[in-house]
Amino acid sequence: MAWIPKPSATTKIERRDEPYLTQAMQDELSQRYLPRFETTLAALLPALHMIQHEYHWVPPQAMEEIAEFLKLSPADVMDTATFYEEYALAPRGRHVVGVCRSIACEFCGQPEVTQAIKEALDIDVGETTSDDKVCLIELECLGSCGTAPVALIDEELHEQLTPERAAELVRQVRASGSTPPATGREGLSPEAASIAD
Ligand code: FES
Repeated sequence: MAWIPKPSATTKIERRDEPYLTQAMQDELSQRYLPRFETTLAALLPALHMIQHEYHWVPPQAMEEIAEFLKLSPADVMDTATFYEEYALAPRGRHVVGVCRSIACEFCGQPEVTQAIKEALDIDVGETTSDDKVCLIELECLGSCGTAPVALIDEELHEQLTPERAAELVRQVRASGSTPPATGREGLSPEAASIAD
């Protein structure tokens, strides 16, 4: 296998004057998260979530700003951001559909669900629709194996998906431009719902 060299040393970071890590984000990190933890490293995930949530990706400049604010090395921030698939390292569509591909969901029909979404949006996993509205990704276990197969649409969990409902949901997201509320709890007994929680 050949090594694929990355031009890290010569990569130019695109910058903007306005910081990505806003004062409001810094205040929230200082007041809500940092007091809970012994190290600033522990606040790294919430910081990355804030950036991802606001901009729908994590720009390199934002990683530097987080590193400076949390007194970490930029390499630590980048290591973490590149490890988790939910952090986008390049701009994504406005809405993100993340289908769980881990084992319980795979056994319960995830391949068919993913295929239905691909056909409904006419894109492959990792791609964004031509109108920049919806991006399809695959994620590891979302902690809802009891109601597999599941997918996140933005931050809403959709459980017990069928290919038909998955396709309908993503068409709805694309057409309306809004995030549908969570679905898929219909028919669950209170006991099953509490296990799924
Ligand atoms: S395997 Fe999909 S939620 Fe756990």
